[in-house]
Amino acid sequence: MKQKLIVGNWKMNGSLAANAALLQALKQGLPEGGKAGVAVAAPAVYLAQLQAELSGSAIGIGAQDVSQHEQGAFTGEVSAVMLKEFGARYVLVGHSERRQYHGETDAVVAAKAQAALAKGITPIVCVGETLQEREAGQTEAVVKRQLAAVIHQVGACVSELVVAYEPVWAIGTGKTATPEQAQAVHAVLRAQLAAATEHAGRVPLLYGGSMNAANAEQLLAQTDIDGGLVGGASLKAADFLTIVAAAQ
Ligand code: 13P
Repeated sequence: MKQKLIVGNWKMNGSLAANAALLQALKQGLPEGGKAGVAVAAPAVYLAQLQAELSGSAIGIGAQDVSQHEQGAFTGEVSAVMLKEFGARYVLVGHSERRQYHGETDAVVAAKAQAALAKGITPIVCVGETLQEREAGQTEAVVKRQLAAVIHQVGACVSELVVAYEPVWAIGTGKTATPEQAQAVHAVLRAQLAAATEHAGRVPLLYGGSMNAANAEQLLAQTDIDGGLVGGASLKAADFLTIVAAAQ
């Protein structure tokens, strides 16, 4: 079986003390020689803490956003080189909360993915439809449009992406897509990637949206679900570890 990847997205949560306790519990609880890849995406100010706490551990470091620019007069932004200095291996781009609350367009998301790749950081490109779009039968068109912008931008580097399907209506709502609903969209994304690269099979396709300790196994059993992007449940060590165990 292909190696799965479980990424915790802490969003804007945590504190030095809470992070230390959570990371300690994760380090202790990870299975010896576990096969699944594991990473946590923390607020940028905590990356130094992750770098210190996770050195020598199998848990990868992720960031939640990156500037599309290399450097300069972009107050408040953090560049890919800066993330790299603090050990970031992954960065989320185009999370629906950034698209929704920070006006990130498909073009901006694509530029961010490119900026990350250029500095050796793997972008986790998030796509997903709103409830309104799903009900209007637009799910496929929306996720394909979002992914197409990134594919177009990164050219031959498509096979280096991670893609996360996160239906907006399932995020933080406790409403999970059924395994069949998720698999159907993942199959669409896989086919789109396959049209762009012969290595589409090795692009991890993560599902995100109320993934939890109880539903992870069923979701991860789907052919084209290669892992999870976990929000709320990643803040509780026991729950996150159960999800990781379901991915072994
Ligand atoms: P929840 O797992 O809290 O629904 O969040 C999903 C998500 O947005 C991960 O990026």
